[in-house]
Amino acid sequence: MEDSKIRELVAAMTLEEKAGLLSGDDFWHTKPVERLSVPGIMVSDGPHGLRKQDDAADNLGINDSIKAVCFPAGCASAASFNRELLEEIGDCLGKECQAEGVATILGPGVCIKRSPLCGRNFEYFSEDPFVASNSAAAFIKGVQKNNVGTSIKHFLANSQEHRRMSSTSEIDERTLREIYLASFESAVREAKPWTVMCSYNKINGTYAAANKKFLTDILRDEWGYDGVVMSDWGAVDERVDDLAAGLDLEMPGCHGVRDKEIVKAVAEGRISEKYVDESAFRILKWVYKYEENKCPRSNWDRMEHHKKAVKAAEETIVLLKNDNVLPLAREEKVAFIGQYAVKPRYQGGGSSHINSMYVSAAMDYVKENGYDNVSFAPGFNDRLDTLNEDELKYAVELAEKSDKVVVFAGLPDSYESEGYDRRHMNLPKAQLELIDELTKVNDNVTVVLHNGSPVLMPFINKVKGVVECYLSGEGVGAATAKILFGEVNPSAKLAETFPLKLSDNPSFLYYFGEGDRTDYREGIYVGYRYYDKKEMDVLFPFGYGLSYTTFEYSDLRLSSERITDEETLKVSCKITNTGSMTGKEAVQLYVGACDGEYVLRPVKELKGYEKLELKPGETKEVSFELGKRAFAYYDVDISDWYVNDDDYEIMIGASSRDIRLCGSVRVTPVNRKPVHFTVNSTCGDIMKNEKCKQAVMDFAARYMVIFSNDDGNAGEAMSEEMVRAQVEYLPLRAVVNFSLSEVITTEQVEEFVDKLNKLANS
Ligand code: BGC
Repeated sequence: MEDSKIRELVAAMTLEEKAGLLSGDDFWHTKPVERLSVPGIMVSDGPHGLRKQDDAADNLGINDSIKAVCFPAGCASAASFNRELLEEIGDCLGKECQAEGVATILGPGVCIKRSPLCGRNFEYFSEDPFVASNSAAAFIKGVQKNNVGTSIKHFLANSQEHRRMSSTSEIDERTLREIYLASFESAVREAKPWTVMCSYNKINGTYAAANKKFLTDILRDEWGYDGVVMSDWGAVDERVDDLAAGLDLEMPGCHGVRDKEIVKAVAEGRISEKYVDESAFRILKWVYKYEENKCPRSNWDRMEHHKKAVKAAEETIVLLKNDNVLPLAREEKVAFIGQYAVKPRYQGGGSSHINSMYVSAAMDYVKENGYDNVSFAPGFNDRLDTLNEDELKYAVELAEKSDKVVVFAGLPDSYESEGYDRRHMNLPKAQLELIDELTKVNDNVTVVLHNGSPVLMPFINKVKGVVECYLSGEGVGAATAKILFGEVNPSAKLAETFPLKLSDNPSFLYYFGEGDRTDYREGIYVGYRYYDKKEMDVLFPFGYGLSYTTFEYSDLRLSSERITDEETLKVSCKITNTGSMTGKEAVQLYVGACDGEYVLRPVKELKGYEKLELKPGETKEVSFELGKRAFAYYDVDISDWYVNDDDYEIMIGASSRDIRLCGSVRVTPVNRKPVHFTVNSTCGDIMKNEKCKQAVMDFAARYMVIFSNDDGNAGEAMSEEMVRAQVEYLPLRAVVNFSLSEVITTEQVEEFVDKLNKLANS
């Protein structure tokens, strides 16, 4: 419907009808306005499958939803480093939404994995905003090309479940911009999600739902977002304040309670009716965008989507360790041990929980595909803390007589879920004991992990293989078996760091905060940005993942040695498959900004990635384009992105710790930051400005005693270094004290500062 028609519709509504539109009708629907034939539309969770509930509705995954396909959760799909795959998953979900009459799916989740402990990490993509935002953009495009919407969530800084409805995330501006906002920004700008869901928490003391700075000033005014902002379920505190801040829709329904508050506030002149009109306009636009394009009788092929879920899982499973133990050979006697081989854990708990159509188990796949040398032992029961003696004995005996052992381990449902955070990174003790016992009797043990977030691996040196399945959806079993037997070459890479221990994580000291206050004191140093800067060993670095083939990187080319921040740098290189199996490689581009005195920068930041498929011996070229944002940091003094005039390292790697090619480019800002010296500016800082250098040296030489060369006692007391440091750190105003030759007044210093500012900005 044209905007003008929607405006007419809004004008035809009573204040009560408009206010009514601004909250849900129930758990999953917007309100219809029957008098004007305005329909209500339905939303459903998300993100990695359709969780459409019919009757008994709840948002915590308690009641049943329709049968649907469970695709890999965010933790896994991001590990594919494959935008096309995410778009395809989105496309499947968009089709399912259309067929089921769902106008918008509640996802993707792009919150940053600040700590491995966050209970909802499995739903989120990455510790890195570039991966998170790119994955989200692809997913959104895939869903929305079917004329149904998405709801990117949870805006903003919802990186913990602990006290999620009352805590405040205290974050400095630069960190917000570079990390927490950045994971939303390009997805919002590029892919234009139909809706944005605000988070439960506060940001710097104000609930996300009431936070005008984020909902309006940044989201709408800066990023140009014109869709609907809805609340997370129950995130509204003061409805009228939230409306003024930019929150259009309260979810779920509030039984009319808050609609009345809005009407009253307008009547009493506490809020202008224009806020009600604007939100009603946006909601109606969304309603009709769906209504006018809906295809209720559209069909989707369940089996086809299941197959796509298997394909997706194949690209999301990360091979972490392989000491010549994988792939398994058909002739080898292999023991699959662990209950997840027959009943995999493949999704997390809470609002994203899918009532899966078919779940593939690795054991089923091997039976159905003639891998007759595979036997099975349950090994453990993930509901029990201890091992059953008989089961352990059986598993150990089986391991003893097998050539190779694959342990299907992982975190039980109760260990990670929406609603609470983990308190440690351990696998259950029983599983660790089992792995330990098995490695005593068999030298060829591989551990296959099912978990939504990193775990510690005390067994890492005792096993020969580790396969990280994450929670890769209902296709997990078939995909795992195909990877184990080499039918599929693994190609996923970690979108997060696996630390050696929890206390290594940069948020460790502050993660749970104090009461309702969580300070994000590690700032921009999240994930690999921190581990790299600290030069710390990690268990597995960001971007890491093995393949059954090998890739060679060569021929790095940069389009220029020097660009301005308004130009684009083109970077290309060649990748060759030097092994004997077709495989895919996720090539990563990192930019390293010089670690300046004025701006703290991470050693490197991901600014590009591409995934290529290569046959043995094949070479392909991969190219990237880097614009201003690839080099910029957020400068709080000018409240904008800024590129320092500097050399920047361009690093192409197979992981964040495996850089294969390096180049460098000089980037110069076209519009330099205005320089503003004061009487407190140091001589050193002023001297770094080419235009002012001479002036300040003359000034200092003329008046300041510490510039005089004394060969006597004083000279001995002051080393050259000390003199240099004295001058460097000396504020100009101190010339009043240190002038020996004549009396200098404050006014004279101020005049000189004026002169410097004119010179610097000339
Ligand atoms: C979750 C959201 C979800 C909503 C609806 C909330 O508790 O935080 O992610 O979309 O419920 O189920």
